[in-house]
Amino acid sequence: MADATSVLHVSPVIPVVTIDDPQHAVPVARALADGGIRIIELTLRTESALTSLKLIANEVPDILVGAGTVVTPGQADAAVAAGAQFLVSPGVTPALLRHMLTLNIPVLPGVATVGEVMAVLESGLDAMKFFPAGPAGGPKYLAAIGAPIPQVQFCPTGGISLASAPDYLKLPNVSCVGGSWLTPRDAVESNDWGRITELAREAAGIGQLREP
Ligand code: 3PG
Repeated sequence: MADATSVLHVSPVIPVVTIDDPQHAVPVARALADGGIRIIELTLRTESALTSLKLIANEVPDILVGAGTVVTPGQADAAVAAGAQFLVSPGVTPALLRHMLTLNIPVLPGVATVGEVMAVLESGLDAMKFFPAGPAGGPKYLAAIGAPIPQVQFCPTGGISLASAPDYLKLPNVSCVGGSWLTPRDAVESNDWGRITELAREAAGIGQLREP
């Protein structure tokens, strides 16, 4: 089983994917994999999200698929039952964090303040999602957190684009970034898998911008 730190090192960008029609799930995942992206955070924001999660987990073995937008313990359980290989939450509560830690898969809790980072660190985790990255302060804010708390690695997500990703990826406390720009809704709905592969290829090409 991967740990949360290794989840952050699968690809330079974790696509945050929202799928309405489960028929799109496998083609979207394959299109991303064809472009060199090996990981998906599938959001639990649609009614059929768990069906899509299950399809990707079963049919696209070269993609590590996790559940995003996990806000309740029940959602975490349902995601694990559907085959989620890791869990991502936009923020944390003590009850949600405690529960996710019992599930034996990697967990990336969302944090946006220094106090939240410290609380998650106390639970034994040192890999976190920084959300919403842009509105919460962007690369400057993350660089500032890295001074007193250098031991935490982040996946900043929220308001990041291909153009702004390098500003995050060059920071010593950023292992990857997340974003929804790789799977635009119009491309998914028009079955434009070639465009998604192209966006994935560009994102995969950002590469590692600092020494590991
Ligand atoms: C998330 O859930 O992580 C965000 O909705 C993704 O943010 P973005 O759409 O600004 O990339």
